Amino acid sequence: MRIGGRVEWLLEPATPDEFVAAWHAARERGYEPRVLGGGANLLVEDGVLPGVVITTARMKRIFRPSATTDEALDQDPSSSIAPRPRGEDPRLVAWCGTTLPSLVSTARDLGWSGLEGIVGVPGHVGGGVAMNAGGRWGELWDVIELVRVIDREGELRDLARAECSPRYRNWGLEGMVALGAVFRLEVQSVGEVRARGAEYLREKRRVQPVTEWSCGCIFKNPDPELSDGRSAGKLIDDCGGKVLSRGDAIVSPLHANFIVNTRAATAADVTTLIEDVRDLVRERSGVELEREVRIWRAAELANPL
Ligand code: EPU
Repeated sequence: MRIGGRVEWLLEPATPDEFVAAWHAARERGYEPRVLGGGANLLVEDGVLPGVVITTARMKRIFRPSATTDEALDQDPSSSIAPRPRGEDPRLVAWCGTTLPSLVSTARDLGWSGLEGIVGVPGHVGGGVAMNAGGRWGELWDVIELVRVIDREGELRDLARAECSPRYRNWGLEGMVALGAVFRLEVQSVGEVRARGAEYLREKRRVQPVTEWSCGCIFKNPDPELSDGRSAGKLIDDCGGKVLSRGDAIVSPLHANFIVNTRAATAADVTTLIEDVRDLVRERSGVELEREVRIWRAAELANPL
């Protein structure tokens, strides 16, 4: 959203091992570190936020594994491997700092299907895995075979798909951090995959303010039984929410579940507007919307152990 303050400490590991070292360094000094991925689903409060943030922005690696799935994440991505035909072994390994758009375009250029549903979703692989990013055409966990995580004790663990229970916008591994994943895709023709992705993106651009400064959908879609099958966007729209604004933060006229920073909105404008929208929907429809966007507040950030 181009909003929010600065942090006291920012650590920038470039590899999973460096990440683990950064995590332990913060904990040993009494801080519970926050992990910043692409920031696409995050709102950070204004001002200087005390504490430690670890960014995964330098952990940008995507490659075809030459090893079995169990060992794929141990492979050194800088080692050269002989080129293989695209019809062979359609798996990709991505570290958490890889952008979702580059994961999608790598698969598309190989003619590998399975990630088209993620087209147009911003952010990084780490956040996408942890949020089970996706939409009406599919979710990231549809094609995940293995994830590498750091657990609450700071240990690295590899979890196979069968050991995980991802749900709507939730990977079910609260408190852990995704450091990388192995994706299993399906070989199709390059033209087919490209055309499908382009069609989804066209449709998305028609209904969402994709190029504006937002943090994606603000609220999760409610239980259809409670909302007469209406999505959060439709519900807010039906309740008249599209006229709401605070400072330079407005409810998008294109899609009511997006808040857009039109110029110089502050984090306080956005958080207040989020509550305005939630109050309006509660009063007019009785539905309690649950926030999808995460908010980092100064008080939580300090969080000494
Ligand atoms: N609608 C309105 N008014 C609005 C907005 C939407 O009437 O202001 C109607 C639309 O016309 C459509 C229906 O509501 O009939 C659903 O809208 P849309 O197709 O945009 O889907 P959505 O349920 O609002 C979900 C995800 C999006 C994802 C899209 C497309 C959630 C909260 N949102 O949106 O994900 O891009 O499907 O697959 O699950 C995100 O998570 O940040 C996100 C943007």
